[in-house]
Amino acid sequence: MSHVIIVGSGIAGLTAALRAANEHDVTIITKDALGDGNTAQAQGGIAGVLFGDDSIEAHVADTLAAGAGLCDEDAVRILCSEGPQRIRDLAAAGVDFDTEAGSYAKGREAAHSYPRVVHAGGDATGRAIARTLAQRVRERRIPVLENSLLIDLVTENDTVIGVDVLTPHRPIRMLAQTTMIATGGCGQLYARTTNPAGATGDGVAAALRAGAQVADAEFYQFHPTTLADSGFLVSEAVRGAGAVLLDETGHRFMLDIDPRAELAPRNVVALALARTMAAQNDRPVLLDATRVPRLTERFPTITAAVMHTGIDWTRDPVPVTPAAHYWMGGIATDQVGRTKIDGLVAIGEAACTGVHGGNRLASNSLLEGAVFAERAAAALPRGAAHMHPSLSPIDDHVTAPALDRGELQRLAWSALGLERNERHLTSALARIDEWDSAATPIPLSRAALENRNLLLIARIVARQALARRESRGAHARLDYPKADPTQARSVVAAPVQEALA
Ligand code: SIN
Repeated sequence: MSHVIIVGSGIAGLTAALRAANEHDVTIITKDALGDGNTAQAQGGIAGVLFGDDSIEAHVADTLAAGAGLCDEDAVRILCSEGPQRIRDLAAAGVDFDTEAGSYAKGREAAHSYPRVVHAGGDATGRAIARTLAQRVRERRIPVLENSLLIDLVTENDTVIGVDVLTPHRPIRMLAQTTMIATGGCGQLYARTTNPAGATGDGVAAALRAGAQVADAEFYQFHPTTLADSGFLVSEAVRGAGAVLLDETGHRFMLDIDPRAELAPRNVVALALARTMAAQNDRPVLLDATRVPRLTERFPTITAAVMHTGIDWTRDPVPVTPAAHYWMGGIATDQVGRTKIDGLVAIGEAACTGVHGGNRLASNSLLEGAVFAERAAAALPRGAAHMHPSLSPIDDHVTAPALDRGELQRLAWSALGLERNERHLTSALARIDEWDSAATPIPLSRAALENRNLLLIARIVARQALARRESRGAHARLDYPKADPTQARSVVAAPVQEALA
């Protein structure tokens, strides 16, 4: 039995913990309460081949097409073929997926050729999954450190041997044979995001500092439809159920852009929204869901959020804007979560297995979290512990930038957002350099650690976006508007030395 530290408690971290605890001594470290985070906010559902008239091949083909030529096809085949069993496992664990006429209720989302998205509580799938798995973890009495933030990975001889963590009481060091990063994405880099406050790229930034590789960093997915003033997600499943997008004159502009209209891949719809908004002085576009059958019953969570803004969406359209949603990039891993560094495993949104390529297919993220966490946990090295978990005190200062977070978020939105160009990327990097060069040792705090992480992720995204001189998937360069087939095969892996040069 070896000691395994899992940092993060979304679907990936919780799935890995439950699987790994059969054979290992597991501790979960999580930034907020157990199960809080992006998973708990997922609405639309989880995609998987569960119906007789669907096929794994069709799910693979849809995932590859959305990924814009940059997916790792072997990883995609694993995702789509192991996915159905992972969804059945979730149901067996107690996730109460919605049913219709004795079988799972089918949901349609963009760029799926079949309505293969299953959901729970209408539009509260992530909440159902996070709560259920967190409950199973508590029942198994797996130790959990809540409200505890990863400071850095501890390395020795090019091996990760544990973590430094800021607990509510003090900073501590914990050692383990394997550290699994499951810290999710980095939506807080951007001024508009669907992500909760904790999504600051902590695990990816710590892995970079420890020398891990990051792949596909330039590909950040923007969700087309969030409530204009709050960033609250309005699920793609709403468009899947028939809602349409209108400009402020009432014109259904997606019909001019793609034959799939509102159900074109997410990058296509998000960019069309951004351009339509730019043409109307940055005023939001409108999502008209008034003709969706059983709207309030099917989408109770979104209905409550829309009602809160004073709009009755059964009668009137809702103003929506795009927002940062999901990072395709992450710590480069193999098909069982292993990174280039011994002792370090990455899973979920923090990892880059290559399944999403340049643009993730809707509702493949919860699926990736479940599939690759299970595989990673099953592949953990066995054997007697040669290192006992230990707690020891550590430095209570960190070298961090004195950062105006709002300024960084606005800079990222304008320069690293839906449309990029060399001039803006270069000047963003210059501002990042200024912040970095003014970093000084300051007392450890959540804000200081997060700012340090956000700035590092901003640098990586900007560098890789500057290097990719083409437009593909979620990466749109105004100065290189076409896809370049010579760049098509390269999933970028950025060694930290190169990325930070
Ligand atoms: C949504 O419900 O639109 C989000 C689903 C996803 O991000 O895959």
